[in-house]
Amino acid sequence: MHTNPRTYYLETFGCQMNVLDSQLVEGQLRELGMRRVDSARTADIILFNTCSVRQHAEDKVLSRLGRLKRLKQRRPGAIVGVIGCMAERRKEALFASVPHLDLLCGPGLLHRLPTLLEEVWDRHERVAALSGSQSRRIEVLQRSLENDEMEKLDLSRRPSPEDNVVQSYIRVQRGCDKFCTYCVVPFVRGPELSRPPAHILEEARMLADRGCREITLLGQTVNSYAYSENGRRVGLAQLLERVHAIDGIDRIRFVTSFPADWDEDIFRVVRGFPRVCPYLHIPAQSGSNRILKAMNRGYTVEEYLRLMDTAREYVPDIALAGDFIVGFCGETEEDFEATANLVRRVEYKGVFVFKYSPRPGTSAERAKTDDIPTDVKARRNNDLLAVQREISLRQKRAMIGQTVEVLVEGYSRPALRARAAEEAAQNPGAGAAAPMPTESGIHASVHQLTGRTPHDMIVVFDGDSSHIGALVNVRVDSVSPLTLLGQLTSVVSPRR
Ligand code: SAH
Ligand code: SF4
Ligand code: F3S
Repeated sequence: MHTNPRTYYLETFGCQMNVLDSQLVEGQLRELGMRRVDSARTADIILFNTCSVRQHAEDKVLSRLGRLKRLKQRRPGAIVGVIGCMAERRKEALFASVPHLDLLCGPGLLHRLPTLLEEVWDRHERVAALSGSQSRRIEVLQRSLENDEMEKLDLSRRPSPEDNVVQSYIRVQRGCDKFCTYCVVPFVRGPELSRPPAHILEEARMLADRGCREITLLGQTVNSYAYSENGRRVGLAQLLERVHAIDGIDRIRFVTSFPADWDEDIFRVVRGFPRVCPYLHIPAQSGSNRILKAMNRGYTVEEYLRLMDTAREYVPDIALAGDFIVGFCGETEEDFEATANLVRRVEYKGVFVFKYSPRPGTSAERAKTDDIPTDVKARRNNDLLAVQREISLRQKRAMIGQTVEVLVEGYSRPALRARAAEEAAQNPGAGAAAPMPTESGIHASVHQLTGRTPHDMIVVFDGDSSHIGALVNVRVDSVSPLTLLGQLTSVVSPRR
């Protein structure tokens, strides 16, 4: 017998849902008395929380796993696990391709992880917790039962004092029912389920008590959130109103919105409730009706544009963000040009562009040909980003001289590196840092800090550690396509 595992290493890939799942998993591991370490080299348990949305995301994990082979030979007792979407997609076949893998756990069964780890540790056997290959019909019949069980993970949330809860995610919806033809998410995350409002609000209040100021409600199609409460429908608009009523929450966001089945009530809430941020992440995916149809998105370009116009009628300064896939099966130059035109027309705050990656099991992968060459995908990807870069730059230049409200997240990346070097040198005050008076009059180091505006613009400015977690005003004095740079002018409200 050996002692229980004491340390874990956890690396997270993929979307915000996975970031949240990783936090919840860490909470469970802490409950077991385990401590996080920042390198797999010494960890008793090594976990990868994985993404399957594109092949590239899976390849990265496979390469990380490959590098652990030698480690596992040296320390056969260490547990190597793959959790999340890739575990669910590849299932036990992953054991065959990665012989030194001990554990698989799908994203819907993460509440079972402590038990699974115990089993591997005690019995030295491989374990897998996956949703199985049952048909979707059976899954749907089990919905309510599974739902209760799956609630365990979210409700187990106990942030530790070291956790940064200032900006927190809360899941409002699991899974997805849309079945866009390219997308693996409905297969790995299961059917769409809205969580009970009472559970969501309980989490929000608990987070607010611990210093949370910004909550982002998460769902794959968050605007289709709907829960029947004593026979009355609670939609996203009502949920936003209820979260808005919680003391201490300064900002509320919600992602990702699905353009079809939009409910205008949501615009009413964004306009009427000041703490709901004027920001909408609402992917179009393509600007060509032919491609939208082939993707099974359920709306036309005209409908999408009308929705964006309506958004601006309700909230004239609303910031819009979107995702696009370039090089989808059969995408012609004209289709791509139509997408570029849509991007020009909407004037997004920012876009995410992805090269189409066929996903095994999806209907596009089965029924269509991935016929756009890699170099064409890459060119379209760059061209679309270039279109947006100009728009972003123009929008940001117009903000020079304006004062924006920033929720300070932490040190900006270069500043983080400088700080690490400083600490390594055991010489505080060295490097780029210079003394700066703080409210308390004590001299603290000046560092580059970063945070976001309500419109989700990234702002970089000089401040000190006391500003992290505060709401501050920053006057913008220069810009880059992705960031606003400026001077701190005042503290709106200090860190709680
Ligand atoms: N539920 C969200 C996003 C889910 S995945 C929505 O519907 O918008 C995040 C993004 O990845 C998608 O918006 C899409 O742009 C991209 N994506 C999904 N599947 C993809 C694939 N097979 N290849 C390339 N990009 C993909
Ligand atoms: Fe995937 Fe479409 Fe669902 Fe988004 S809405 S998760 S793109 S299937
Ligand atoms: Fe990836 Fe799973 Fe999110 S496939 S994008 S981590 S839901």
